[in-house]
Amino acid sequence: MCGIIGYIGSRKTTEVLLKGLYALEYRGYDSAGVAITDNKDLEIIRSVGRVSKLEEKIEKEKKVNSTFGIAHTRWATNGEANEKNAHPHKIGKVTLVHNGIIENADLIKEKLINEGYKFNSDTDSEVAAALLDKYLKENDTLEAIDKMTKDLTGSFAFGIIIDGENRLYALRKDSPLLIGVGEKENFLASDITAIISYTPKYVLLDVGEVAVLEDSSLKFYKEGKEIEKEILVSDSKGVDHSKNGYDHYMLKEIMEEPVVIKRLIERYNEEENRKELDLSEYKEIDIVACGSAMYAGLVGQNLLEEFAEIKVNVYPASEYRYKKKIYNTKTLVILVSQSGETADTIAAMREAQKLGIDTLGIVNNPDSTIARETSRKILTNAGVEIAVATTKAYILQVCVLAMMAFVSGEKKGLVKEDFSIFSELPKLIKEVQDRVEEYKKIAKDIYKKESCFFIGRGLDYALCMEGSLKLKEVSYLHSEAYQAGELKHGTISLVEEGMPVLCIITNKELKDKSISNLKETEARGAKGIVITTKDLDDFDEYEKIVVPESSQYIVSMLIVPALQLLSYYVALNRGCDIDKPRNLAKSVTVE
Ligand code: AGP
Repeated sequence: MCGIIGYIGSRKTTEVLLKGLYALEYRGYDSAGVAITDNKDLEIIRSVGRVSKLEEKIEKEKKVNSTFGIAHTRWATNGEANEKNAHPHKIGKVTLVHNGIIENADLIKEKLINEGYKFNSDTDSEVAAALLDKYLKENDTLEAIDKMTKDLTGSFAFGIIIDGENRLYALRKDSPLLIGVGEKENFLASDITAIISYTPKYVLLDVGEVAVLEDSSLKFYKEGKEIEKEILVSDSKGVDHSKNGYDHYMLKEIMEEPVVIKRLIERYNEEENRKELDLSEYKEIDIVACGSAMYAGLVGQNLLEEFAEIKVNVYPASEYRYKKKIYNTKTLVILVSQSGETADTIAAMREAQKLGIDTLGIVNNPDSTIARETSRKILTNAGVEIAVATTKAYILQVCVLAMMAFVSGEKKGLVKEDFSIFSELPKLIKEVQDRVEEYKKIAKDIYKKESCFFIGRGLDYALCMEGSLKLKEVSYLHSEAYQAGELKHGTISLVEEGMPVLCIITNKELKDKSISNLKETEARGAKGIVITTKDLDDFDEYEKIVVPESSQYIVSMLIVPALQLLSYYVALNRGCDIDKPRNLAKSVTVE
């Protein structure tokens, strides 16, 4: 979602800004722009599409020999993705970039129009620029910023330039923003990856605080008074932009799964570290997350209930934050998030914390809000994911939850197997990945179809949810996941001649039930495809994907790469922009 970078110092401004924008590309965006100035002339250059297009435009059009500037990648919310809506926006003396959504923008805009302001875009961001410009007419800059902030509802992070001032301003509410601290130079950025090649030192802004950045000075204010802020040091290695010979980041990241999973498991091979995973003290767990992270939660629900006998509810964070919560004294709220910056998941975490409920984050980004604010955290350590579609981070979320089910069940005396089963995973995942030709073949058979179903029961249904999401996300092939037994209660009416129905079967007890449901669809013309384990495989009459036999604790993590690779090859056949699917953002920082 929108990315912000700002720079003041003696380096070439556009170089720093463009490098930052490239680093922020992974968040997902549809237009980009920069505002650069030498404190006399200010130039705004914007373009729709990739940062590389903006770079070409800057090369052709740039006139100002700038000393500071702000830049932005926009993921459209208010107003379509076109050049006039791209940031930065300038009204009067104020030029700004914005991440977030200003909920009362229409109301404020109406008043400002009556006062004579004219707007050039459909964005809420431009309204903030006009509002600040209005307050600047009667107040000093800090007072004007405070007044603007008080008027705005919703979420925001701003990078601001004021005509005639040789400095940058930064402030935030709910949307992420940090200040990078350098030697005779300073930065502002949505996340550390945008500036890590220049400095690991950063300051986190809290709500109501304003940062004032000059090249040789950095000051922070709250309600007009200067405040001290702690300087933190990130150990982020930044984004590795190499594709390691793969055509896409998605494929590279899938292929990294054996390595990252090995790293995770090695930590918990130490018995002492396994205590972090023990949830046996809780009577009930709410797993709260969005998208794939929520589907990892669904796998976790099946495993924790089955093997640790803990009642687990799974909620999309966007619903959870506004629903009535019924907690008992032994409830744990688990937040699952790759980015650790998903707005709804953060809000859900804060809701639970407000009510005094224990929270635990399963997070990939160690510098993120959830990683910092949750009372207990497990870092998945997948490294940065560049492809918008999550793959390696998702499988690690599943792995953490599976290990939690194992450790909690073991504590209750419910487990017969040994923790060493997890150590088999890297080798088994590699075996699954090596069967590329099978995924390519099935992809060839289904890529021209208009629609397909994933069906399964229990844990298999949870896997269907993510399999289906991955497929539609990267290939735009319409897909639905359904509980196998539920299909005939209405949705089977959609089954047509030749429609692929992918049936996941990893559980011996449910095998016959699921296959009967698959046959019901075949009787109506569907083309059944089975995804199963070697020990259950007697499906020679079907096209199939067969993964190695394994323990029920780890089998889901063998189905996952198979489904991811299948989605990848379907998307490849359909000529999709695999790493940056249309309309999607990596990090969803608005509600
Ligand atoms: C992943 O492929 C999806 N694009 C998306 O559903 C994602 O999992 C969701 O937005 C949650 O993101 P998070 O893990 O960063 O919180």
